[in-house]
Amino acid sequence: MSEDRRPRLLVVDDEPGILALVQRFAAAEDFEVVTRTGGHALLTELPALKPDVALVDRNMPEVAGLDVLRMIREVDPDCSVILMTAYATVDSAIEAVKLGALDYLSKPLDFDRLRELLNTVRHGIERRRRLLAVDSDLASRFEFCGMVGRSPVMQDLFDMIRRLAPHARTALISGETGTGKELVARALHRLGPRRDRKFIAFNCSAVVETLFESELFGHTRGAFTGAMEAKAGLFELADGGTLFLDEVGELPQSVQAKLLRVIEYGEVQRVGAAEGRRVDVRIIAATNRQLFDEVVAGRFRQDLYYRLNVIEIGLPSLRERPEDIPYLTAAFIKEFAARFGKALVGVSPGAERLLHNAPWPGNVRELRNVIERACMLSDGRILSERDVLSVLGAVAPCPAPAPRPAAPASTDKAREVEAALDRRLVEQVLQQVGGNRSAAARLLGISRRALYRRLDSFGLR
Ligand SMILES: Nc1ncnc2c1ncn2[C@@H]1O[C@H](COP(=O)(O)OP(=O)(O)OP(=O)(O)O)[C@@H](O)[C@H]1O
Ligand SMILES: [Mg+2]
Repeated sequence: MSEDRRPRLLVVDDEPGILALVQRFAAAEDFEVVTRTGGHALLTELPALKPDVALVDRNMPEVAGLDVLRMIREVDPDCSVILMTAYATVDSAIEAVKLGALDYLSKPLDFDRLRELLNTVRHGIERRRRLLAVDSDLASRFEFCGMVGRSPVMQDLFDMIRRLAPHARTALISGETGTGKELVARALHRLGPRRDRKFIAFNCSAVVETLFESELFGHTRGAFTGAMEAKAGLFELADGGTLFLDEVGELPQSVQAKLLRVIEYGEVQRVGAAEGRRVDVRIIAATNRQLFDEVVAGRFRQDLYYRLNVIEIGLPSLRERPEDIPYLTAAFIKEFAARFGKALVGVSPGAERLLHNAPWPGNVRELRNVIERACMLSDGRILSERDVLSVLGAVAPCPAPAPRPAAPASTDKAREVEAALDRRLVEQVLQQVGGNRSAAARLLGISRRALYRRLDSFGLR
């Protein structure tokens, strides 16, 4: 519910008399009331209606009340549902509550009871709103150099960075993909004595093997075919500053030897040059593999490993610090709400649960992508469970993480939910774009071929 409107009550009953009665009553209780005489159009209407609470008659000619209840639970799980019936039995009440109804009222309606229930809903909304306000205040307190983290491991890590940054000449940052290795490297630079000098990032996995040396160390004119001009390498460009070697495990052996020389003697030699030049560069390396395993396997020089590893900063996966998720979420919502000009201030409890339970193989990057996508699609003030569900399975998969321990049971559950959602999401998106598959693939953030594969697997082609 948004802050600038009254809570909204949806009443569904085939008897116009009841609709009028409830409307008058609830309006006096300061609810905005929307009435419908049946549930047939609700499936498409619900996302726009966004009721906070629904009062639904159980026995209606077209769509049964229990089906309306199911529909609301599915489409808008944050909406509370109250069923009413002229023929209340204990069994039917239990069934309704099992399906997620807030309560079950018999007709003629007990308006005092209805008032109590509406107040419960209203208080729930207000409490959530207060919590959200507190949350976003807290979020800023747990920020450090662009990193958010309130878990003890992250707080310790921030502390360590604060202490090391003024001194460290080399550092090795390890952690799964998307855990924030580059942010740590930038923090080390920003808090160190070289903060006013350059920070250059070089991704060792994005370079063709033959170009490594000239990229890093530069080359003389005519050093090799195509070397028309002499060129300075990144070490020279970063002189006085920091060079960030991302995915350092990908460095070819020949380059590893040269890198060791730079670290040991502070000297680089351009390809084709007879003499070396002095450089003063702080080297921060990052790896998402177990670099020591690479040493054991003979692919990474042991001496270089020990040189880089003087200080090792290990980033925990997001699974190991779920208590950070609400704070990261709050920070990302703030960022994207501002970027997209949306009024979003937080997430519903259901959405928070989903985010907490998701497996996050792509760690913080994946969480950030999910929130970005959800913010883009949402037009309320609170990201609902539905907003989050619709993007959880759809965000482009991140590269496979380094080997990790077997997933806990709750993770399997989350995957199951994701799979079921996937189909619904694909259907919804296709409907939204009038069946245009290219447009649907774009919206889903997947290739057309990937979309066709999914359609095939759902038997929807
Ligand atoms: N603690 C954090 N707080 C806020 N944002 C974070 C945090 N950690 C990571 N991010 C964000 O997640 C994304 C990925 O972070 P980063 O690029 O530092 O990860 P990485 O470990 O270098 O990943 P890769 O191994 O895939 O290169 C970035 O958008 C970054 O801003
Ligand atoms: Mg990175």
